[in-house]
Amino acid sequence: MTARTFRIAPSILSANFARLGEEVAAVVAAGADMIHFDVMDNHFVPNLTVGPLVCEAIRPTTKSVIDVHLMIRPVDRIIPDFARAGANIISFHPEASEHVDRTVGLIHDSGCKAGLVLNPATPLSCLDHVLYKLDLVLIMSVNPGFGGQQFIPHALDKLREARRKIDGADREIMLEVDGGVNAGNIADIARAGADTFVAGSAIFGSKDYRATIQRMREALAAI
Ligand code: DX5
Ligand code: ZN
Repeated sequence: MTARTFRIAPSILSANFARLGEEVAAVVAAGADMIHFDVMDNHFVPNLTVGPLVCEAIRPTTKSVIDVHLMIRPVDRIIPDFARAGANIISFHPEASEHVDRTVGLIHDSGCKAGLVLNPATPLSCLDHVLYKLDLVLIMSVNPGFGGQQFIPHALDKLREARRKIDGADREIMLEVDGGVNAGNIADIARAGADTFVAGSAIFGSKDYRATIQRMREALAAI
């Protein structure tokens, strides 16, 4: 296997929102590669989180990539707002857009990288006619809406298949995984083909963010 760049993306969903700026700074200082920013609307998913104003508020606190995961429907109207708020990557679910190709174009036109997110029961065939335009594929390893859920093992098979598709594409595409990732399972997930790992509760729920991220890196270095 060729050497792959691994990225760890703490999800602020599990951060202390009363001290969000400090939490972002703390995970960046602890070695995070990017900040995963979960946007929920109590409609597409049964939970409600934050929007562009909060993205804009944390933007000046870090140079890190802000990786926005939209769990909202519809998506198009608010994409330019997130771009202006400083998002670097914007990902959405195909079920949340009437015109997936158009939404990808809108994200690119706004100056961001574009990702498509597949829920556990969403088939990989969704990627077939759009992969060549994507910068990121996100495989959900839980049903979206909440932090702290158990990793769904079938996601490993899906990652292996997604890795094959991505390796066959003539483009650099990140393969991200989201949900239930921790230092104990990250190596298996990386072996299945993921290169970018979202982790919310595993990092923010730990006492020592640096030690947790370090344990994840050690597990990745050993594969
Ligand atoms: C779930 C979110 C995830 C969540 C992951 O809908 O998309 O990003 O924060 O949390 P953990 O790592 O705790 O499963
Ligand atoms: Zn997420």
